[in-house]
Amino acid sequence: MTQEVLTVAVCERPDWGSPEAAGTLAQRLGLTLVPDEYQISDYCRFIIFFQQGRLSLQQTAARAPGAICVDFDDSALTYRRNHPVQPEALLKASGVKQGGMCRVLDATAGLGQDAFIFASAGCQVILMERSLVLHALLADGLRRAAESENDRVAESSGRMTLIHGDSASLSIKDIDERPEVVYLDPMFPDRRKSAKVKKNMFLLQQLLETDIPSADLLGNALHIASRRVVVKRPRHADFLEGRRPSHQLVGKASRFDVYLPITPSSI
Ligand SMILES: C[S@@+](CC[C@H](N)C(=O)[O-])C[C@H]1O[C@@H](n2cnc3c(N)ncnc32)[C@H](O)[C@@H]1O
Repeated sequence: MTQEVLTVAVCERPDWGSPEAAGTLAQRLGLTLVPDEYQISDYCRFIIFFQQGRLSLQQTAARAPGAICVDFDDSALTYRRNHPVQPEALLKASGVKQGGMCRVLDATAGLGQDAFIFASAGCQVILMERSLVLHALLADGLRRAAESENDRVAESSGRMTLIHGDSASLSIKDIDERPEVVYLDPMFPDRRKSAKVKKNMFLLQQLLETDIPSADLLGNALHIASRRVVVKRPRHADFLEGRRPSHQLVGKASRFDVYLPITPSSI
């Protein structure tokens, strides 16, 4: 009898380092607990596990890249925050100034990298993520960021609120205050070889390859934002949902399409 290969399972690794037991984590995420064996790829395509107290995700295939986790203390993210492309295109497209105290809904949170740039600039950020596994990685990253010895990381994490769910069905009534900016960076099928796509994004693409894009993600965002909706796209990709933006910021590999909301703020 052949057994079904799961997408993600929890695996208890020797350097677990978290007070949460593997069985409890599996139960919390509704996942199966699999043994830490050589042939783990027979059971599942990905494993999620604590590694030195960090919730981590790894592909099980031979020669797969190493594990990833959400790490707001990461040196690359610190570099991006301290040495932004002049000025950081994401903030420019969103109309956010450093210390601007804008409310942002990052409706496709992923690994929270872009959300952290908004929070570091002083924005209050709601991160919405529909994948339970990525939501768990984000929650773990935020927990560690709150305890960071780096004051800027700890302070920025205090401006980030995480929610689980599909932002295409989010309504203004579900959130306390209407965000000025809604940011969308939906997954885009990328056929380039893994070396060209950053390790994190490559892993996310593999994990979420069977996810069906929400039909009205942008359409709904246009009802939620009070100032603008910003969509990140690969440079030569079609417009999201076929909607033409009011203007664009085009970079080398990607671009930001900027839309004006359907019901703008009365302020
Ligand atoms: C390309 S990643 C985002 C990367 C993110 N900007 C970052 O800096 O790490 C896209 C993410 O959006 C999530 N997503 C896609 N559609 C969504 C929806 N309708 N609601 C919530 N999350 C969604 C996917 O699960 C995936 O994690």
